[in-house]
Amino acid sequence: MARRPVIAGNWKMHNLQQDAIDLTNGVMQALKEEDKSALPEVIIAPTFTSLYAANKALKDCGCGKVRLAAQNCYFEEKGAFTGECSVQMLKDTGCEYIIIGHSERREYFGETDEMVNKKAKAILSNGLIPIICCGESLEQREAGVTDYHIASQITKALRDLSASDVAKSIIAYEPIWAIGTGKTCDSTEANRVISMIRNVVKGLYDANTADSIRILYGGSVKPETIKEQMAQSDIDGALVGGASLKADSFAAIVKGAM
Ligand code: 13P
Repeated sequence: MARRPVIAGNWKMHNLQQDAIDLTNGVMQALKEEDKSALPEVIIAPTFTSLYAANKALKDCGCGKVRLAAQNCYFEEKGAFTGECSVQMLKDTGCEYIIIGHSERREYFGETDEMVNKKAKAILSNGLIPIICCGESLEQREAGVTDYHIASQITKALRDLSASDVAKSIIAYEPIWAIGTGKTCDSTEANRVISMIRNVVKGLYDANTADSIRILYGGSVKPETIKEQMAQSDIDGALVGGASLKADSFAAIVKGAM
């Protein structure tokens, strides 16, 4: 089955509202000449405070080439949860995707596998798509427990989800040691881990579900690395951090994935 590639830009904690508008417009300008049907699914994930502005810029352009994601959510619908944003609120702001379980959230904000699972359920039950992150630390890699750790993260994240929900979800494999370090994971090794993840999904569900789910690589993706990454059998796209903060480098990655 042909899986449509995905290139998602995680802006992390960068960009004030005007910067977000400028970057959104810059990305669309850089993709202006491209045929929409040939493009991968292109996603940008601004901070909460820039979602409204970025969504407005996307709507004003009206080209429908770029979609909006949030970087986090809370799993409850509403209530006394100071500082949190529900899936409904993010949907109301134009988000179609929500990144969950990013290693920075796990490391600095105590996000657990159980929370990732609750968030995935809340996202899917509201008709949005979760981008579920997983990845090992350098210590785990050196200790030889990479596959065990990733399989455990994925199994717990998907607990009690239906096959049809999993089939439309997105997973991002982001080795922590490759994030923001300039040290990209070797493409064949990233592909090996990603096909292992696909096998885990096959074991939990079935071959169809495993064939449908899109699995991205993230960690120092650059315009120079994307072609080789996309040439791998199981890598369906990229979750891009640093290189998504400039319109030209992000657009070059998008074009490299076509
Ligand atoms: P970098 O592309 O800056 O390494 O970040 C990757 C990432 O964490 C995307 O979510």
